[in-house]
Amino acid sequence: MLPPNRSSVKKDFLTLAELSPQELQFVLRLSAKFKKRRKKMAPASHLRMRTLALLFQKQSTRTRLSFEVAISELGGESITLSMSELQLGRGETPEDTAAVLSRLVHGIIARVNSHEELVRLASASSVPVINGLSDRFHPAQILADLLTLQERKKRLRGLKVAWVGDGNNVCNSWLYGAALSGIDFVVAAPRDYRPLEQAVREAESMTKSTGGTITVLEDPIEAVRDADCVVTDTFVSMGFESDREKRLSVLMPKYTVSEELMSHAKRDAIFEHCMPAHRGEEVTSGVIDGPQSVVLDQAENRLHTAKALLCLVLLGKKAQAIARSL
Ligand code: CP
Ligand code: NVA
Repeated sequence: MLPPNRSSVKKDFLTLAELSPQELQFVLRLSAKFKKRRKKMAPASHLRMRTLALLFQKQSTRTRLSFEVAISELGGESITLSMSELQLGRGETPEDTAAVLSRLVHGIIARVNSHEELVRLASASSVPVINGLSDRFHPAQILADLLTLQERKKRLRGLKVAWVGDGNNVCNSWLYGAALSGIDFVVAAPRDYRPLEQAVREAESMTKSTGGTITVLEDPIEAVRDADCVVTDTFVSMGFESDREKRLSVLMPKYTVSEELMSHAKRDAIFEHCMPAHRGEEVTSGVIDGPQSVVLDQAENRLHTAKALLCLVLLGKKAQAIARSL
């Protein structure tokens, strides 16, 4: 359950480092309960009379749908707006936008080009702000990735997870998720595409209390050796399209997750990818469409983890009572 000192002050979720190891475990437990419960089709009213604004500066399939469905199934309302519909898109400041939204809605989920803009939005908001992906972090994705890993391996602590490829926004949040869970996390990335140094340092310091390890190296075979899970993501994230040719020339084929690369992991290793995927670039179709791939479980788990996250962030300690009731 949640640590006893959890207060009801506004809780943002921008990187994943905001959660304690106990809160992360709680979110995963609550997600699993929501997942089981969904089969019963029982109506829920945990977010009754609560409305969330979903702001998107970039495209989305999974993030938008999982949060909208989660809010709806919890009895709340959502309003999704793209930049072209918001005054933010024609120059209103993030501070004014956040202050106004704080008077109108109970929470904000935002997918933004620049993480700094998200931080400005969160600083000026008196309601919780959830990161729906920024150029630097994608924490909501990692909740689903961890739940999927836990379902398959029945634990997280002591597992070895290998990230192969671009040390991008998803990788940066994985660093925190792995460290909080006591996972041995190894990143294999070319020198120019390593994860954020600050995230690496902070994750390393988190492992002191959780027992995990963080390693960043260049050789994908060394990273994948005896791994329980191999993870990758696109080599060309949204906003980095102009760098596409250079990225593909540096990352392919060395960092493509192929059947050959997977053969260095444990025999029962799983393959994760947040999607959208680019077959023939960061992963072969043999791997992503093969027996080790759990990518559709990850996509489904976005919904169950979104529900648990919303309860934690919006309802604070009441989330414990919800967990007990499920
Ligand atoms: N994985 C993920 O966040 O997908 P979308 O870009 O479709 O939301
Ligand atoms: N790293 C990818 C993730 C997409 C869900 C991107 O930012 O485009």
